[in-house]
Amino acid sequence: MKKILVTGSNGQLGRSLRRLAEKRDDLLVDFTDVAELDLTDRQAVEETVAAGGYDFIINCAAYTAVDKAESDEVTAARINTEAVGNIARAARAAKTRVIHISTDYVFSGKHHSPYDELDEPYPTSVYGRTKLEGEGMLKSFCPDSVIIRTAWLYSEFGSNFVKTILRKGVELGALKVVSDQIGTPTYAGDLADAIMAIADAEEWTPGVYHFTDEGVASWYDFAIEILRIGGHPEVKVAPCATRDYPTPACRPSYSVLDKSKIKRIYGIEIPYWRDSLAKCIAGLDMQNL
Ligand SMILES: NC(=O)c1ccc[n+]([C@@H]2O[C@H](COP(=O)([O-])OP(=O)(O)OC[C@H]3O[C@@H](n4cnc5c(N)ncnc54)[C@H](OP(=O)(O)O)[C@@H]3O)[C@@H](O)[C@H]2O)c1
Repeated sequence: MKKILVTGSNGQLGRSLRRLAEKRDDLLVDFTDVAELDLTDRQAVEETVAAGGYDFIINCAAYTAVDKAESDEVTAARINTEAVGNIARAARAAKTRVIHISTDYVFSGKHHSPYDELDEPYPTSVYGRTKLEGEGMLKSFCPDSVIIRTAWLYSEFGSNFVKTILRKGVELGALKVVSDQIGTPTYAGDLADAIMAIADAEEWTPGVYHFTDEGVASWYDFAIEILRIGGHPEVKVAPCATRDYPTPACRPSYSVLDKSKIKRIYGIEIPYWRDSLAKCIAGLDMQNL
């Protein structure tokens, strides 16, 4: 039986993995979040990993408040960088494989074609920089790891763009959404499937991989589809420019990821973002968004 430690498991991805693991009787999974295992506590991480006898650590923990990170760099770095260093050292000592999640925000967004794993990162925000430095921790201390960069995550769990658009759209009847940031909405359930496929694969091939759902959209396109599929096409959505909606963190204007490598090496089939959005919305409790 495979033994797995999932960290940050109360978040969107962690809860999507929980749902998957419930259907599997060939896995023994310890789900932890900060209350059970604070990843910034180096000794606790070392002891848990050394004692656990895990085959894999799946790190879903992160400081994901992109705007807040601009004024709280110390905390963002502790969670996105130093804590990943703690996992990397502990994993190498215990010979445990790590699957870690990173972000499209490691890129500047100046490209006009999808970023692949060989493209040079150039983060423009504290969040992106601390996540890139987290990748660096794994490359230095536990190079036998898999790092998956993903983007625009949403799910049935926690708060996210899909739920916010549905709630605010119904409340206000009209919304303005930026149309000049291009990426790919990604259902956390699809990412959880990909992670499990990697853990199940016969051959382990470490390295950096890109994973999002298939297709391309702006946040404006995404909002329109959320309201259409969610049964509220009457809500008026107006496109606006990033410069008209200033935020503390600078976001990449284009962050579509090239997923050829993960498809080729791990044989992962990726759903189209609109199909996954419909699947997610079908599972939402519309009265409690
Ligand atoms: N969300 C996106 O759009 C997006 C896009 C690209 C990449 N990613 C990456 O995808 C991964 C999963 O994202 P997500 O949306 O599922 O994140 P999330 O919902 O914010 O969940 C992260 C979890 O980590 C926990 N955590 C924070 N500090 C911790 C610590 N010191 N020790 C243990 N756990 C800690 C958080 O707890 P608290 O809530 O109590 O802080 C939370 O439960 C992250 O690596 C993220 O950077 C996300």
